Amino acid sequence: MVNFKINDRELSAAAGTTILEAAEKAGIPIPHLCFLKEINEIAACRMCVVEVEGIHRLVPACNTEALEGMVVQTNSPPGPAGPEDQPAADFVPAQL
Ligand code: FES
Repeated sequence: MVNFKINDRELSAAAGTTILEAAEKAGIPIPHLCFLKEINEIAACRMCVVEVEGIHRLVPACNTEALEGMVVQTNSPPGPAGPEDQPAADFVPAQL
């Protein structure tokens, strides 16, 4: 068994359980699209990405194992907007 947190809830699951499976068992919804257990586990659509403390990128919940001590957030607020998030009319490259 491994112990971890999802959205500040203490959970435990058998080793090898994915974040998505653990969240579903706990009633925590994580939207997902391409995941079909034992049929399609390619983690291609990235709809299920979650934030994991200590990892500086979002990870797909459907093919990431829940590990001992892991702290997961499924609905963290968006970070500061980068140039790609701004309307095209407001974004002027610095080199022009
Ligand atoms: S459901 Fe598609 S990447 Fe996880």
